[in-house]
Amino acid sequence: MRFATLTRQPDDPLLRIIGQHAADPRPGKIDLGVGVFRDEEGRTPVMTAVKAAEARLLADQASKSYLGPEGDIGFVRALATLVIGDAVAADRVVGLQTPGGTGALRLAAEVLARAGVARIWIGSPSWANHAPLFRLAGVEPAMIPCFDLTSQTFDLDGFLAGLGEAAAGDAVLLHGCCHNPIGIDPDAAGWATIARHVAERALLPVVDLAYQGLGDGFEVDADGARTILSAVPECLLAYSCDKNFGLYRERTGALFAVSPDADTGAVVLSNLLSLARANWSMPPDHGAAIVRIILEDEGLTAEWRDELETMRQRLAGLRAALADGGRIGTIDLGAVAHGKGMFATLPLSPAQVEWLRDRHAIYMAGSGRINIAGFNMAAIATFHDALRDMVANGVV
Ligand code: LMR
Repeated sequence: MRFATLTRQPDDPLLRIIGQHAADPRPGKIDLGVGVFRDEEGRTPVMTAVKAAEARLLADQASKSYLGPEGDIGFVRALATLVIGDAVAADRVVGLQTPGGTGALRLAAEVLARAGVARIWIGSPSWANHAPLFRLAGVEPAMIPCFDLTSQTFDLDGFLAGLGEAAAGDAVLLHGCCHNPIGIDPDAAGWATIARHVAERALLPVVDLAYQGLGDGFEVDADGARTILSAVPECLLAYSCDKNFGLYRERTGALFAVSPDADTGAVVLSNLLSLARANWSMPPDHGAAIVRIILEDEGLTAEWRDELETMRQRLAGLRAALADGGRIGTIDLGAVAHGKGMFATLPLSPAQVEWLRDRHAIYMAGSGRINIAGFNMAAIATFHDALRDMVANGVV
């Protein structure tokens, strides 16, 4: 009886919020939990360019036969051009389609383990799934505390000092843009410093780029990743289309590997393909086919980019309105204006998070992370009032 040896695992605390919020009957409840984009009415619509591409796919797709462990190679190539551009010579880059950005990270972790990488250094806090994902694949996460929640700042010197403990050949995880969960990225000079440091110490960077286009703009959001890619001989780039194409449940992503030369790249790709085969055999097709159709069509690409820009501006507007709340008790909401993208993490205790949920039907991760897209302008006013109420009630 082997199952009797298993112990019950807790639900994922972030995903649990989806059900808790849905079950709450209170009108005016606010969901700032899982990271999905929402419009002013709280909907997560299918993007119009995606709908148009789906219509074409429905009309034109002649077969649903297997494509192979690499997935849709047209998607992979179009994405490589779009994201990596000419930051590195094309013959140094290999890539394959993966089930979402998480699939890309999992494959990255497994190929690192196979290459003998024992440790990955991660700025803390990070996306809650990063550490368990790498650990399960056999690469031990080493966390470097480097964010200050009160001032909403990234401590570059602290991060570099933490990396000072790394051994040559260790990996380092870098959020390409719109840091999850903090929302604070290095500036251009910071990226250049990190790139130099990583190259000098012979570390292997793993860039997680899951929010391109939701920060400062589509091109500029890739600058940090490109700075890293162009500075090192070896690098992995995990990419997600779930947020910027709104394809969440279609699980659409890719993993790219940059190698010193094409021959090494071919060996890396053969490893990635064999690992993919053993994990999911072949990735789901639908989302990648949609992205390919959009990226191969100038008109659809322009439509998608416009819609993405509207989403980006909505996030920036909500962030500014949130920051207008100023100082409430010890919380300086003005500081969230330093960030970008979907997330900010407020300096709230677990008890305060719970109180806001119980008293005001405001749902957020236990860490105090909020999905800014979960607001509309009315909800921001409600949120400011709820924080004032919390302070007035002495909840700590
Ligand atoms: C999030 O952080 O909310 C998203 O990336 C969704 C997830 O899988 O956690």
